Amino acid sequence: MTDTLDRTARDYSVVGPEAQRAAEVGLVDAEWFRPHVDPDRMRELTERTNRRAIGDAVLWLALLGVVGVAGAVAFPSFWSIPLFVVYGALYGAADARWHEFGHGTACSNERVNDAMYQFASLMLWRGPTLWRWSHFRHHSDTIIVGRDPEIQLARPPSLFRLAQNYSGLRNQPGMFWRIIQHAFGKIDPVAVDFVPANEHGKVVWEARLSVAVHAVVVGLAIATQSWLPILLVGAPTIYGAWLVLFFGTTQHLGLQEDVLDHRANSRTVYMNPVFRFLYLNMNYHVEHHIFPAVPYYRLPALHAEIKHVLPEPSPNCLHAYREIIGELKRQRDDPNHELETRLIPDVPTAPAEVGSIGAVRPDGSFDLGPVAQIAVGSVTRVDVRDRTFAVARTADGTVCVVDGICTHGQVHLAGGVVVDGVDGPQIECPKHNGRFDLSTGAPCRKPVKEPIAVYAADTANGHIIIQPPEQ
Ligand code: FES
Repeated sequence: MTDTLDRTARDYSVVGPEAQRAAEVGLVDAEWFRPHVDPDRMRELTERTNRRAIGDAVLWLALLGVVGVAGAVAFPSFWSIPLFVVYGALYGAADARWHEFGHGTACSNERVNDAMYQFASLMLWRGPTLWRWSHFRHHSDTIIVGRDPEIQLARPPSLFRLAQNYSGLRNQPGMFWRIIQHAFGKIDPVAVDFVPANEHGKVVWEARLSVAVHAVVVGLAIATQSWLPILLVGAPTIYGAWLVLFFGTTQHLGLQEDVLDHRANSRTVYMNPVFRFLYLNMNYHVEHHIFPAVPYYRLPALHAEIKHVLPEPSPNCLHAYREIIGELKRQRDDPNHELETRLIPDVPTAPAEVGSIGAVRPDGSFDLGPVAQIAVGSVTRVDVRDRTFAVARTADGTVCVVDGICTHGQVHLAGGVVVDGVDGPQIECPKHNGRFDLSTGAPCRKPVKEPIAVYAADTANGHIIIQPPEQ
């Protein structure tokens, strides 16, 4: 896929010619490698708990508050400097909260996920809607040149540029300038490429809110004749950016572009418990990309489950950085260079699991099999002729049948999760965590926009009987 490319001339923008090339060679919204995991085990691994996610969030906010108050009390003495260094790092850890709650997998409570995502987005100068769609694209087309808007460094990479990014002075002001432009209604072409047109208004209003909040902070600084308000809110996005970079650099940098296997373009690094708390276990990055429905606190268990099909993780950050810097130097000298020391187990991708094959009854209705074969709280794929269905059982045992393929992408919903939504049971897609109402088929969570067909299930005789879909 990569051998004949002239990487010195590639355009990494999502609005450049590489986007078309990626589509032509089948790299857009494609099928990615996915190992087999027992469905019952996967159901355990995708279980979310409010207690764990809220507990971690409260601890982080408490630490942020305590160190922030200590820094404010000590300001402007010398002792406020180390306190603000720690405060900036904790502030930068908002990035991990932004990510986990943004995926909607941290809590089972959707409102808590969303509230934390909005809060972290405001802290980090990221428009919540804009960046949600950016991250959907990152997961669809991870490190595909011309498609992924979150590629950290273009090839040939510049080590100087990487070092500059650690200061926060290279990227962060540009991010705020982008927010200001959005606040004035000027949506940039990159955002237009992946944010649906009907969400542009939201992008504008969120940008206005962000500008207004930061204007109040600046106003407070002027009124009090002190830098303190800015040091506490806004500026940590710059001076705390190093922590975001320190962790984020390990995710994909130095690895392959334009492949459909997260084992080749993502990196798992073993980290100590403090780092894993700050980073919310995103060091298990290969695992996260393959199974984004798994909440961060179950990623170590997922890692144990599938590590035999993954490349050897980096044993620590130092090892990961040695690999990254070495690779960047080699890619700088030869942009076509690929890491050769990473052995990826040669196992085939798991086919979308067919739970069972249903039957056509004499009256033309479809028999999807016995109710008892579907465990409560689970979803199974049942095929009949050329049709595929996702057959779910909600927590109260009700059987729900929907079309088997997500309306957002070519992904089997049976690989997803049955969850309790605010208005009733929902099914969550395994690819981008989009959701459908299981009773009505209505879209309940982005990026899903189109409803899915639902089928009334008659279970009176112990079998799941539906009327066949219209052709
Ligand atoms: S494929 Fe994107 S939410 Fe289903």
